[in-house]
Amino acid sequence: MIIAEQVADVRRAVRDARRRDTTIGCVPTMGALHAGHESLIEACRAECNFTAVTIFVNPTQFGPGEDFDRYPRPLEEDLARCRRAGVDLVFVPAVETLYPAAFSTYVDVEPLSRVLEGASRPGHFRGVATVVLKLLNIVEPDRAYFGRKDFQQQLLVRKMCRELDLAVEIRTCPTVREPDGLALSSRNRYLNPGERQTALALYRSLQLAQGRLQDGERDAPAIASDMRQFLETAGARPDYAIIADPESLDELTAPRQNMVALVAARVGRTRLIDNLPITLESRA
Ligand code: PAJ
Repeated sequence: MIIAEQVADVRRAVRDARRRDTTIGCVPTMGALHAGHESLIEACRAECNFTAVTIFVNPTQFGPGEDFDRYPRPLEEDLARCRRAGVDLVFVPAVETLYPAAFSTYVDVEPLSRVLEGASRPGHFRGVATVVLKLLNIVEPDRAYFGRKDFQQQLLVRKMCRELDLAVEIRTCPTVREPDGLALSSRNRYLNPGERQTALALYRSLQLAQGRLQDGERDAPAIASDMRQFLETAGARPDYAIIADPESLDELTAPRQNMVALVAARVGRTRLIDNLPITLESRA
């Protein structure tokens, strides 16, 4: 497994792999790898014969007062996981490598970057879009793998790649969950045992919405409001809970065949997100 810190080393390794007529896949991450990340690596290895993982805690996607400084960085453990998972190359750039002094070029994907996560975390998606574009330009993969866990992020990355004419295919992989339903997240390690229990309310609120919609309830905003109530009762502090169009993320007033329920809530000091695609059987 190649471990590269410099852009030129990544380019050289990818160029060498391409000479062997290889399909290149890329899995961008911020490290603190868990089974969710590993599922992306697996999907990549199944479809590509060269798998590049990037590990970079991207400062431009964290707001002031967010957890950039305390974000977990277990590099040796991450590298061992990558090695076990059969990764070919890991790119671990320093902050100055991707953002040299006076760096000032950013990508904004509007209006997607301003709603939901973007409204709660101003500037977050500008940082995400910018770093993902940089990473894709460095690795130049044929395919790049993202998790549905960050539903808005994968929509935004898809839109950016389409509109900026990147020759990369974006793949979105299902959310990996703990046996009780909690979506795996690098931030789950911040939770104490009581908070870990409370955190379950996110997934349960999504299931509540799914159940109500599948039972035929028509008032989507009322269901969303009940999701917020449910989260509060469980001791979580919701940022948003909505039932939305899965392309535009516009809130739905009435159910459709394809929807997505999305939640963000604080549990103690930790902010968690989750979502669930909801499909209604078409009635003949
Ligand atoms: P990070 O939070 O490390 O996530 C890296 C990738 O793993 C993302 O595509 C995310 O959606 C996916 N992922 C996380 N938890 C998952 C789970 N439980 N199941 C399936 N996939 C999961 O997302 C980022 O990093 C950053 O914003 C990044 C795209 C790397 C840009 O900095």
